[in-house]
Amino acid sequence: MAQLKLYEYPHPILKKKAEKVDKVDDALRKLLDDMLETMYADNGCGLAAPQVGVSKRLVVIDIAGEGEEPRPMYLVNPEIVWASEEKEISEEGCLSVPGQRAEVERPASVRIKYLDYNGEAQEILAEDFLAVAAQHEIDHLDGVLYIDRISRLKRQMLLKKLEKARKESGSKI
Ligand code: NI
Repeated sequence: MAQLKLYEYPHPILKKKAEKVDKVDDALRKLLDDMLETMYADNGCGLAAPQVGVSKRLVVIDIAGEGEEPRPMYLVNPEIVWASEEKEISEEGCLSVPGQRAEVERPASVRIKYLDYNGEAQEILAEDFLAVAAQHEIDHLDGVLYIDRISRLKRQMLLKKLEKARKESGSKI
């Protein structure tokens, strides 16, 4: 496995709609493995392929808590086929918007169809934190970041903080 370069806001690949995958083969599994390693290395709980510069509909998620056994999930061509009317607000962060967090409102639960690591069709009901993580990552495949889902004022404040943090750390992004 290899760690991949993370693409951060405002890289244009993060705004692009990602392409569907034709088949799940070894090359694709290698990419999924590398995405998972990259996510773990940065203590993330979800990562979408555009965040590593690949415009394909691929997501990895692991919502296991600290000290728990890892529970990696691989979602190929994930699609939300149902969303609850009930909404929930939770705090989100993103490896592509490092160090920042904001409250986002989303449907509390969603039903998702996808292909798994072996290319088999799956359907799950995602609730609680998994619902948040899955919707956040699937948004990435449509070029949407969580900061697009907060008020303009909050977004401006968050982006200012991001800029300041980058200046302080000497990052050139
Ligand atoms: Ni993200």
